[in-house]
Amino acid sequence: MDLISVRELAKKSIAASCLYYLYDDWRTGRQIALGNIETESGARHSLMSTKDSISYIRKVYNDYLAYGRVQKFQGRIAEIGPGDNFGVALLLLTHGAEEVDAIDRFYSKRDHDTQWKIYSELCSEEGLENPFLGDPGEITLQGLGYHPGVAAEEFFAARREYYDVILSRAVLEHLFDPIGALRDMAKSLKPGGILIHRIDLRDHGMFPNHHPLTHLTINELIYRRMTSESGRPNRILIHRYREWLEESNLDGKICITRLAGIKNEFKPVCWDDIPNRTRNKALTAVQQVRPKLARNLRNVSDEDLAVTGIVLTAKA
Ligand SMILES: C[S@@+](CC[C@H](N)C(=O)[O-])C[C@H]1O[C@@H](n2cnc3c(N)ncnc32)[C@H](O)[C@@H]1O
Repeated sequence: MDLISVRELAKKSIAASCLYYLYDDWRTGRQIALGNIETESGARHSLMSTKDSISYIRKVYNDYLAYGRVQKFQGRIAEIGPGDNFGVALLLLTHGAEEVDAIDRFYSKRDHDTQWKIYSELCSEEGLENPFLGDPGEITLQGLGYHPGVAAEEFFAARREYYDVILSRAVLEHLFDPIGALRDMAKSLKPGGILIHRIDLRDHGMFPNHHPLTHLTINELIYRRMTSESGRPNRILIHRYREWLEESNLDGKICITRLAGIKNEFKPVCWDDIPNRTRNKALTAVQQVRPKLARNLRNVSDEDLAVTGIVLTAKA
């Protein structure tokens, strides 16, 4: 039986799923130790048409502008966890950035023909001559410094540079120490520099046939062993980001984009601006798992447990 069939079998039971994730996390840790950093995580574009890839890249870029409330980004930028494509970096560089550092603990699998089509189309839409020094890709894009195999936690602790902007999308939930990394990112900002992180707090399909907050019921130590090497969701929730923001010297805010038990994402808002009906549905979802919550989450409020997506912005 191959690993995929084992995984399919395990999905049926929470305990079996946990055993699978414990094994898979250990296996990934060994692979990383041996220098194999290839992953399916972030391999988004191989399954998309060129048109859909371009729309996704433009959406990510435009969301960053909207979250940062700016017309364009300038100076030195760090993009954490770009995944398999560097179109966002290309747009940043085309519209004002001097340099972009792309930092990724893993190497998301990518198909070079697919990537070539995306870069060619993006360059043609942007009226760009040729920003690449050779075959289009992350190595040849002028102004891009690519750092595969370097965790954000390590990169910012080593503080190679100071940045005007540090951004990420769907990444901080995969870090093994997002709060430590944020502390170091704050120290890596130039005066007036900004952080923009969009964070997905859901379980990323870990327990697909169960309650959407099932991952919050797993014992803390076991959960860590299931997730820290493989980059599965770290279960750091909104209250931890809020505590970090309050103790930082940054001027920032956290807006909500998703709630438990609510299918669709919404534009970033604060809790009070979410319709009562939506909030109550999410609070009911929390109450269903509250009796089984992991010990370290029992003191967290229902409102905080209900939040499954946020945008964190902060200025130095
Ligand atoms: C879900 S993908 C998101 C990719 C891309 N930002 C997007 O929106 O499509 C998560 C990315 O975070 C990266 N990642 C996971 N853990 C990391 C860490 N500790 N430091 C830096 N990057 C990490 C993964 O390799 C992957 O590229």
